[in-house]
Amino acid sequence: MIAKDYLSELFSLDGRVALVTGGSSGIGRAIAAALAGAGARTVVLARGEAELVEAVRELTEAGGQAAWVAGDLGTRAGVRAAAEAAVGVFGEPDILVNSAGINLRPPMGELDEEVWDRTMAVNLEAPFLLGQRFGPGMAERGFGRIIHVSSQQAHRAFVQSGAYGVSKGALESLARSQAEAWSPHGVTVNTLVPGFVMTPLNARLSADPERVAALAARTLVGRNGLAEDFAGAAVFLASAASAYVTGQCLFVDGGFSSH
Ligand SMILES: NC(=O)c1ccc[n+]([C@@H]2O[C@H](COP(=O)([O-])OP(=O)(O)OC[C@H]3O[C@@H](n4cnc5c(N)ncnc54)[C@H](OP(=O)(O)O)[C@@H]3O)[C@@H](O)[C@H]2O)c1
Repeated sequence: MIAKDYLSELFSLDGRVALVTGGSSGIGRAIAAALAGAGARTVVLARGEAELVEAVRELTEAGGQAAWVAGDLGTRAGVRAAAEAAVGVFGEPDILVNSAGINLRPPMGELDEEVWDRTMAVNLEAPFLLGQRFGPGMAERGFGRIIHVSSQQAHRAFVQSGAYGVSKGALESLARSQAEAWSPHGVTVNTLVPGFVMTPLNARLSADPERVAALAARTLVGRNGLAEDFAGAAVFLASAASAYVTGQCLFVDGGFSSH
């Protein structure tokens, strides 16, 4: 009984509101399930309505409180509209998870301005704009959690990292700047760093069994990541338990990055 109270005080998200971009698929969907499972009223945000509906059905069937908002984070106007629509559901978020991301992977020599702009808009500008929209309010209320999702490609070139790796490197820097600004007011800002995770983002690479096995062999755990591997780390970074952890990168990669 005491252990249960102690753990819920540390990790419970009861009474919190969470917004998870990219919450309809892959890592974002698993994080949304974890946050809703820990008690947060959770809004998932992406473009595709069918996947959003399905994700919310799963979350509510599991006993969580969840809703979806359709929006395109690829334009500034789209980000603003989606942010306001999200607030319209459960109110201002206490927890913001930026998991929406794209990886277009043209060879460097063919990387044109359109791919560069689209990548930066979704992977970097949207997290920046959502931070500007929600960070100050979190600071004013004295509690907030911003969780970014970057990539091992912020740290090393890998399968035509191109603009994608650049956007993720900058995202980690953005997290540190946000942490510097808002941590004195109870808002922590951290980054989850995935290695290779079997999600729709990697459909092409995941279809090559030799590549998949070679990547698994590069981890210390001996397998590639699953979206569910992010659940515990996300609840930790969203909860009271991580109050003194800010501006950090938490590698959830089976040890891919440590050797
Ligand atoms: N899988 C990996 O191995 C891996 C490795 C390193 C980092 N990551 C990062 O982890 C995060 C999640 O990736 P994932 O593997 O879970 O990918 P995923 O399964 O493809 O999910 C991406 C999510 O982002 C949403 N999204 C994409 N473009 C959007 C836009 N313009 N506006 C709104 N939502 C948009 C997608 O929904 P719609 O398409 O319906 O909009 C989807 O919900 C990404 O930031 C990715 O860069 C993944």
